[in-house]
Amino acid sequence: MSIQIKTLDQLKLMRKAGLIVGQALELMRAAVAPGVTSLDLDAIAADFLKKNNAQPSFLNYHGYPNVICASVNQEVVHGIPNERPMVEGDVMSIDFGAIVEGWHGDSAISVGVGQVSPENQLLMDTCEGSMWAGIAAAKVGGHLTDLSYAIEQYIKSENKYGKYGIVREYGGHGIGTEMHQDPHLLNYGPAGMGPELKAGIALAVEPMITRGTEKMRVLSDDWTVVTGDGSFAAHFEQSFALLPDGKPFVLTALDGGKAKLGELGVEISDLLV
Ligand code: MF3
Ligand code: CO
Repeated sequence: MSIQIKTLDQLKLMRKAGLIVGQALELMRAAVAPGVTSLDLDAIAADFLKKNNAQPSFLNYHGYPNVICASVNQEVVHGIPNERPMVEGDVMSIDFGAIVEGWHGDSAISVGVGQVSPENQLLMDTCEGSMWAGIAAAKVGGHLTDLSYAIEQYIKSENKYGKYGIVREYGGHGIGTEMHQDPHLLNYGPAGMGPELKAGIALAVEPMITRGTEKMRVLSDDWTVVTGDGSFAAHFEQSFALLPDGKPFVLTALDGGKAKLGELGVEISDLLV
């Protein structure tokens, strides 16, 4: 498969999908609290899709049973929503995708339930920071693994509570008329390799890190990925594109990435606003 290059009109549809994903994730973030279940979050996402005439990306994807993935504590990704009430101190990772007129958006956040430990807060902040560093490293004329390198270096630079494990088996991906497209984006490795980045590329950037091992295990439900050592994990994801003006725009961020990329000295495109 080759990399799908999108026109500005196609990216406008991807922005519609991305905005729905971003808005739904904010509703779910606001609902996270002790006593709430991940199935409650799933219902919020399903309801929001219905109100906006959008379709779920995950439901029935290779038989996946729900609208969101909800992965708590030592669960890393692909957790199936359930009836367990969240408890104070949990780390809840919520992953959600939507389709508008055939175009996908995909994003994930990790959220602390009530007060979380400083160690788990830094775990989440480091994961999120590495995602933004990766997006900020994407330049027309640069290479795919410039993002991988920026992500890994950011994670390595934060070791106040010990070294983080970077998940090897899963990574980011191209996104467009399918949720998962070429290229696969590793969250580690040297810069300057892989395909050249061109205007019109859209990528989902999604680092997954743990407070311990890089080794993963899949539970007997055949979906839930957990850390091999039971250490807590975090997962953040945004879908972004490089626009015809050469500037990035974060399709799943409410502000297009303006604030976070601005802090990193990167100006976002105004072609989609
Ligand atoms: N959002 C996930 C990813 O980026 C995909 C979820 S898997 C599914 O890889 F089966 F739930 F769709
Ligand atoms: Co993804």
